[in-house]
Amino acid sequence: MKLINIVGARPNFMKIAPLMAEYRKQDWIEPLLVHTGQHYDEKMSALFFRELGIPKPDINLGVGSGTHAAQTADIMKAFEPVCLEHKPDAVLVVGDVNSTIACGLVAAKLGIRLIHVEAGLRSFDRTMPEEINRRLTDALSDLLFCTEQAGVDNLLREGVPQEKIFLVGHVMIDTLLAHVQQARQSTLLDDLQKQGCLNGDGFAVVTLHRPSNVDDPAVFSRILDALEVIQKDLSILFPVHPRTRKTLSLSPLDKRVKALSNLHLMEPIGYLDFLQLTCHAKLVLTDSGGIQEETTALQVPCLTLRENTERPVTVQIGSNQLVGTDTARILAAYTKVIQGTLRKPQIPPLWDGKASGRIVNILLETWKPPTR
Ligand code: UD1
Repeated sequence: MKLINIVGARPNFMKIAPLMAEYRKQDWIEPLLVHTGQHYDEKMSALFFRELGIPKPDINLGVGSGTHAAQTADIMKAFEPVCLEHKPDAVLVVGDVNSTIACGLVAAKLGIRLIHVEAGLRSFDRTMPEEINRRLTDALSDLLFCTEQAGVDNLLREGVPQEKIFLVGHVMIDTLLAHVQQARQSTLLDDLQKQGCLNGDGFAVVTLHRPSNVDDPAVFSRILDALEVIQKDLSILFPVHPRTRKTLSLSPLDKRVKALSNLHLMEPIGYLDFLQLTCHAKLVLTDSGGIQEETTALQVPCLTLRENTERPVTVQIGSNQLVGTDTARILAAYTKVIQGTLRKPQIPPLWDGKASGRIVNILLETWKPPTR
């Protein structure tokens, strides 16, 4: 089976890594790796390839940043000739970024079998660009691999035939479990200690990049009010996403952030360093999707600075709490974490490091050789 695999943005790399490793064990799969170039900075892309042992992409479309329409269209225009030249039997996309829908749409229109890994997740919030990407990609897909039962239920409710849907666990957790020992050897925490960034009784990690949180100064300001209080107890480590850096640099809030003595802004950091921070953090505050799941797998308390999540299992049985962006609500949840009054979290079913193996087995069972 000639299988084109798509990556584009940072969270895609952790999801494709274990699949690429699994393909190497199979002589019936001929994988090609296509990087759309949606993320392109060394620390947003190449670093992850090295750390996770992902082979160099066979093709880089070099598309870069743009508005949603421009970026999606540029990826489509660049990817169509790749499909026409290589004539894959299937295209596999992961997650919910613009690269996912752009390449999915190209494949579907060319009649190429489309496989979606991390299917069925729904926030039911159409103001999130990712929600549109998820719904459309799922509607076009021939095989849909889900990380949690809610994903299966959503797809069935939307009329996707049961025989196309498979609950397999989470490829991103395969990567996490495979790297957690290696991450413990990162020297980042020692370095931060030497730089005087770890004062107080432990630390919290913050990540923020959703346009709804960082592009609106009123929302960002409410989150900062909460961080200002938390940093009196805990050091806060805040690796800053390029989008957030750009927004901050244009905002009067930049000065306020820099004035907080126990909040430490950092450049984007690699996978192993981030995993080390997460493993040792007292809590994580985030608006990311994947980090809600990584903290659940590690049983580290997570406060999600959003009103909804497409990953409900992380709240139902995991260590995640939805706290929105209201200062008082964030601080009330923080207090419960610090007091240790939360119930003991559980790890979701099938988040056991074997999802990529299950996917490849299903690909073999369901693959029909092309008739051409
Ligand atoms: C994208 C995904 C989001 C995902 C996030 C992870 C979409 C719609 N959004 O958001 O779901 O959670 O990636 O990081 O696909 N930039 C750089 N260097 C880079 C990449 C981006 O400086 O290597 C800057 C550019 O100014 C760019 C901005 O970040 O305009 C936003 O990048 P983009 O890929 O459009 O969206 P993200 O916010 O990264």
